[in-house]
Amino acid sequence: MKIAIVTGGGDAPGLNAVIRSAVLSAVGLGWTISGLRDGMRSLMVPQDYPEGPLIPLNQDSVRGITFLGGTILGTTNQANPLEPVDCTAQIVENLRAHQLEALLMVGGDGTMAIASRIAKHGFPVVGIPKTIDNDLDGTVVTFGFDTAVEFATQCIDRLHSTAQSHGRVMVVEVMGRYAGWIALESGLAGTADVILIPEIPYKLESVLAKLQERRSHRGFSLVVIAEGAHPINESYSKEKSGRLGGAAQRLVSAISEATGLDTRSVVLGHLLRGGTPSARDRLYSLRFGAAAVRALAEGRRADMVALDPPNVRYLPLEEATRHMKTVPLDCDSVLTARSLGTCLGD
Ligand code: F6P
Repeated sequence: MKIAIVTGGGDAPGLNAVIRSAVLSAVGLGWTISGLRDGMRSLMVPQDYPEGPLIPLNQDSVRGITFLGGTILGTTNQANPLEPVDCTAQIVENLRAHQLEALLMVGGDGTMAIASRIAKHGFPVVGIPKTIDNDLDGTVVTFGFDTAVEFATQCIDRLHSTAQSHGRVMVVEVMGRYAGWIALESGLAGTADVILIPEIPYKLESVLAKLQERRSHRGFSLVVIAEGAHPINESYSKEKSGRLGGAAQRLVSAISEATGLDTRSVVLGHLLRGGTPSARDRLYSLRFGAAAVRALAEGRRADMVALDPPNVRYLPLEEATRHMKTVPLDCDSVLTARSLGTCLGD
């Protein structure tokens, strides 16, 4: 078989481990495998790629990359073949023109929606779930999330000591546009006093009450806020460019104005997407990459690999993209936060 692998959307730790696993698995079956440059962009804007869209891959090209962050293939979240018009028919034609017979698509919900559309044109696709946000349905977890939570927790730990020394409120913003998984899990692990997630629009009064209570007997507080968290009756904070951003700064201004507490913000942003993948993320990535090749070998044509401990399973791409996996308000982590007295802003 002649197949290709593509990494799409925002990068996440573990992409290179997936690539290595898929390449070694495919080569082991006697297949030929290439990588698509820069997500779908190389097929959409071929004039920018005079060297062609494909990077031939073999054992040598994937040596020593399991622990590297980023993706050796490049990625983009700026070129979407479904918008403004659906050009997936053209993409499939391009793939066939390169004699490709199947595609492994590594990405989040956007990539899986594209994968599902490509499969509808009769081109075999297997999806591999990636995103630090962990908001993809159908899999217990996406790779990249564990590394992001681990790093965010380490940062919260460091901020704890300086917040304590200065008797300050530290507001830490983490990624999470629509889903608050990173904020919730790192906030719990880092023992934050307040955790604000997009799923629970927050009441400023509740946050202030918690901070005042902390001030009276501890003198410092840690707040973890997801970038998509917002006050009740208000919308997400946006930068001038229109991109999401400023959630922590907005809260810092509101806290300072209302209480005069010494309050500072730290935005972890893209730091959460970089760096070496945790051992757990490497394992997920290696397992997903190998499972995706096995899926093609078994004749699967429009499925996504998913983690279903202790195994991986496959589910139709359509099913995987039906809903976004946001934090259920009755999930165990939310209940744990409430039992511990953490303010969730409601
Ligand atoms: O990978 C998803 C995500 O991390 C979101 O949480 C975030 O809003 C987005 O990527 C930002 O991506 P970029 O700045 O690369 O456009």
